[in-house]
Amino acid sequence: MKILMVCLGNICRSPLAEGILQNKINEAGLNWQVDSAGTNGYHVGEAPHRLTQKVARQHGIDISNQRARNFSTADFQKYDKIYAMADDVIDEIRHIAKDKFDTSKVDLIMNELYPGEGLDVFDPWYGGEDGYHEVYDMINAACDAIINNINKK
Ligand code: 4NP
Repeated sequence: MKILMVCLGNICRSPLAEGILQNKINEAGLNWQVDSAGTNGYHVGEAPHRLTQKVARQHGIDISNQRARNFSTADFQKYDKIYAMADDVIDEIRHIAKDKFDTSKVDLIMNELYPGEGLDVFDPWYGGEDGYHEVYDMINAACDAIINNINKK
């Protein structure tokens, strides 16, 4: 199973999603791969945001070695499942992918926890530290659901 987490900048939400899911994969002893990417390219090559790293570290997860990269059409071949953090991210993925957009591979991450509800993981970039903790809790719960749901299939 190869999973890609996608947000806009690949410095706040999706690096956290990658780190959290990687941690759960390790704990469960699963042979899965996880990576993350962003659609807007503004922060390519950068490490995750300081507060994203801080919140991850508080939960025993080190994401300092991650570097932001752009989502590309090749990712549709490489990954089995592509989780977008929010609806505007899915719109961007669709725009980048054009005819390669594969609906069966792309979903909102929160739909794993609350199927069909279409909830976004909000963008913490413009707010304070509290937002990063809230985002952690949402993504953590969604990643538990990803592991449980895929094990059931
Ligand atoms: P992310 O947050 O998509 O969760 O990484 C953002 C970070 C930076 C920007 C937008 C969203 N930006 O426009 O610079």
